[in-house]
Amino acid sequence: MTSPLVHMKQISVEFPGVKALDLVDFTLKKGTVHALIGANGAGKSTLMKVLSGAHSHADGTIYINGQLASIHTPKDAASYGVQTVHQEVDTALVPYLSVGENLMMHEIERQPIVRWKEIHHKAAQTLKEMNISISTKRLVSELTLAEKQMVLIAKAVSVKCNILILDEPTAPLSHAETNKLFSMIHQLKQNGTGIVFISHRIPEIFSICDELTVMRNGTDVATHLVKETDPMQVIEEMLGAPLDEQFPNRTTKSEAPVVLEVKNLYDQHKLNNIHLHVNKGEILGIAGLVGAGKTELCKALFGAAEKKSGTVQLHGKTVHIRSPYQAVRAGIALVPEERRKEGILTEETVGWNLTTASLRTFTRIFSFLHRSKEKQAAEEMVKRLGVKTSSLETKVKHLSGGNQQKIAIGKWLLAEADVYLFDEPTKGVDVGAKKDIFSLIAELADRGKSVIYASSELSEIAGIADRVYVLYDGNIAREMTSPMTEEELLYHSTGGQS
Ligand SMILES: Nc1ncnc2c1ncn2[C@@H]1O[C@H](COP(=O)(O)OP(=O)(O)OP(=O)(O)O)[C@@H](O)[C@H]1O
Ligand SMILES: [Mg+2]
Repeated sequence: MTSPLVHMKQISVEFPGVKALDLVDFTLKKGTVHALIGANGAGKSTLMKVLSGAHSHADGTIYINGQLASIHTPKDAASYGVQTVHQEVDTALVPYLSVGENLMMHEIERQPIVRWKEIHHKAAQTLKEMNISISTKRLVSELTLAEKQMVLIAKAVSVKCNILILDEPTAPLSHAETNKLFSMIHQLKQNGTGIVFISHRIPEIFSICDELTVMRNGTDVATHLVKETDPMQVIEEMLGAPLDEQFPNRTTKSEAPVVLEVKNLYDQHKLNNIHLHVNKGEILGIAGLVGAGKTELCKALFGAAEKKSGTVQLHGKTVHIRSPYQAVRAGIALVPEERRKEGILTEETVGWNLTTASLRTFTRIFSFLHRSKEKQAAEEMVKRLGVKTSSLETKVKHLSGGNQQKIAIGKWLLAEADVYLFDEPTKGVDVGAKKDIFSLIAELADRGKSVIYASSELSEIAGIADRVYVLYDGNIAREMTSPMTEEELLYHSTGGQS
């Protein structure tokens, strides 16, 4: 029998106060795609960071092609052909350099005199091979999240790559981009590359993976051939209990007053003549595929993007919101899509992010809470969202990706606003935590708040929204009232041609 491509044996990693991995075994075979699945904080990223040399203090042994491997730095890992696309897209590229410079960094570092023309030519070639149409001259800071992700993937496979680790690669991608990535994965598989695929999207795992390993609380609880298991079993193994109904029961009030009304809204490039309103106590869905203009719409309403024309009325009065500060003062909160960049301060603690940021800055409009009350509220939120953290004093950068997302959401749930905008709130969040987020959002609405919930996860919109506007290419293509199906939403989200 030939040895597996990777065999990690009895891997343990400990951080102050947290045992992130406890004697984990993991095997990856040549030419296969192996999923890692588990709740937020289960240890998926940590295990892969051990393989990619990011944690030098791990215990245990790693064999590559049957040989004992010594991996303590990213450079060691690269010498074995291990390449990683990390979950934190925003920190993995240099924002003020061009796409070409980022892609060819390894060459630029090697050359005594940099031949720029050649660099850009090679970079363009790499992108072309992967069917990615992004100019190599563009600055990374100007790219969308999806574009950054594609550049990172291109960067990983442009060098020696026998083992590719993809940590939630599809979270920011559109359907078409995801398909592009999947066909690339198929190609790499053919060439014998072993691929580790981390995702919270279970259908994706079942469509492209050969094997899967379930992690829970820093241990590996099961490994299956994908064709020998099913989503229900896997969810139960990852949560330690079956998942019951995800969506809260909603009774909508038909006679509620309009809280926010938007007319003739245009922005600089995407949004086209938007008319919408949201009522008191209503969960309004904004459904649309990646790139439909949901983020642009949320930002325009929050004063975070310039609008060209249009009027906004709040409680029947025209308001001029030109900055997020003004929006918050007016009682509008936004949980942004790029949460690590725009929603939280990762160098600060969990407690600080949950309370100070929202409450103290805006005490004039938000009710003032005493420090002890503040702490109690933060603790409550940590519990309700199931944030995995050793204490409120932990820095947010030490939390797992999904737990950082929860902090960004919890922060605004703790603040008092009249209108809450959520832009893709469940991205990167595990199925158990999604349910908690849905029930917190429903509670906001039950308390008379207005919620605007923007998402490309159409099944979630169908499950949670009372009413929906479907965005298609910057236009509202359709208004629908609950009950509606995912299929109907998809039909209108694709311009009625699905
Ligand atoms: N540098 C660090 N310092 C302290 N604790 C850490 C550090 N990195 C990870 N942890 C902790 O280790 C545990 C596992 O985290 P990990 O990032 O591996 O989870 P994950 O399974 O990738 O979750 P997610 O689905 O949210 O990305 C978490 O409790 C996390 O807080
Ligand atoms: Mg992770």
